[in-house]
Amino acid sequence: MANKEYKLGTKLIHAGVSPDPTTGAIMTPIYQTSTYVQDGPGNHKGYEYARTQNPTRTVLQNALAAIENGKYGLSFGSGMAATDAVAKLLMPGDEVIVANDLYGGTYRIFTKVFQNYGIKFHFIDMSDTENIRKHVNSNTKMIWAETPTNPLLNIIDIEGCSKIAKEHKLLLVVDNTFASPYLQNPLNLGADIVLHSATKYLGGHSDVVHGALIVNDAELDEKLRFIQNSCGAVPGPHDAWLVLRGIKTLHVRMQRHCENGRAIAEFLRSHPKVERVYWCGFEDHPNHDIAKKQMRDFGGMMSFTLKDDSIEAANSVLSKTQLFSLAESLGGVESLIGHPASMTHGSIPREERIKNGLMDSLIRLSVGIEDVEDLIEDLREALG
Ligand SMILES: Cc1ncc(COP(=O)(O)O)c(C=O)c1O
Repeated sequence: MANKEYKLGTKLIHAGVSPDPTTGAIMTPIYQTSTYVQDGPGNHKGYEYARTQNPTRTVLQNALAAIENGKYGLSFGSGMAATDAVAKLLMPGDEVIVANDLYGGTYRIFTKVFQNYGIKFHFIDMSDTENIRKHVNSNTKMIWAETPTNPLLNIIDIEGCSKIAKEHKLLLVVDNTFASPYLQNPLNLGADIVLHSATKYLGGHSDVVHGALIVNDAELDEKLRFIQNSCGAVPGPHDAWLVLRGIKTLHVRMQRHCENGRAIAEFLRSHPKVERVYWCGFEDHPNHDIAKKQMRDFGGMMSFTLKDDSIEAANSVLSKTQLFSLAESLGGVESLIGHPASMTHGSIPREERIKNGLMDSLIRLSVGIEDVEDLIEDLREALG
């Protein structure tokens, strides 16, 4: 790709990719190899061993950097492997300020793994970024934000977090999985590290598990690349290729996810059995003005509670949908329905979960790109 500033749709298709030098193949080959032959000791073509480098992964990493407007991209075997690599930047005694409404697996790795290594995590409400200040002390090293949050679609002001991070020389990590680079680019808003579970919108077809980090700082990139290679949570080349292919249609898919998301959020809001709809595109959604400022549109992720706030009532809806498949994960072309209390957030104790607004009847939707009339009909029938 020529050294020119292209718009997002063009970058998604072309960034990092060039025809294969040996054959001219327009699509990046899957370099299914564990090692590379050297002409003489130390005389190689930039590739020595496939945990360290793989040409398919290199192309993907360059594409990831370009679409998040960053300089360096790193890919991992899963989103959690990417989270693990970032947490390994910390030392015993370090403290991290984390949003209290976040992916259950992130909560689990922090509290059940890294806490055992002497790292302290403060789970706080970040809807007002000034609240972060109260928790900063001389041991604080990192602010960790997910926005929109999973599953309540709370919005955190990335620029506000970045201001505090810069004042106190902290690293700001933003999990951009829900928004995808189509809706939001945290590096442009002052984040230091952007994280993706590429399993979701980047892959887009529910056929791969993958993680990504994107940074601008060369020293940070070097540290993370050292962890990537030393700890070895790297993706296989076929998985890297699937994500690379998924990225090419991100803009077209996201446009439809957003259109369908709006129509379904409005349908649910007008349904008599629905208590509350959490979708960041509503003008009265908390921090909607910030969402409007930092996002290009509002996406297809939403949650809702029922007037009958019981697990039984939620189960009844969850077991009746035909098009919305009951499954963990999100961001694929097909619509998914889930129950955070028993699925994605099952690892959070009930008391903690309710305290943070994750009610028993809370149902999460990942609205796909099917015809929206069919999706609405499916929900109408399931709600009864
Ligand atoms: C917001 C968010 N971050 C991180 C992860 C972890 O990613 P993975 O499942 O690819 O390990 C997930 C998974 O659901 C997620 O939703």
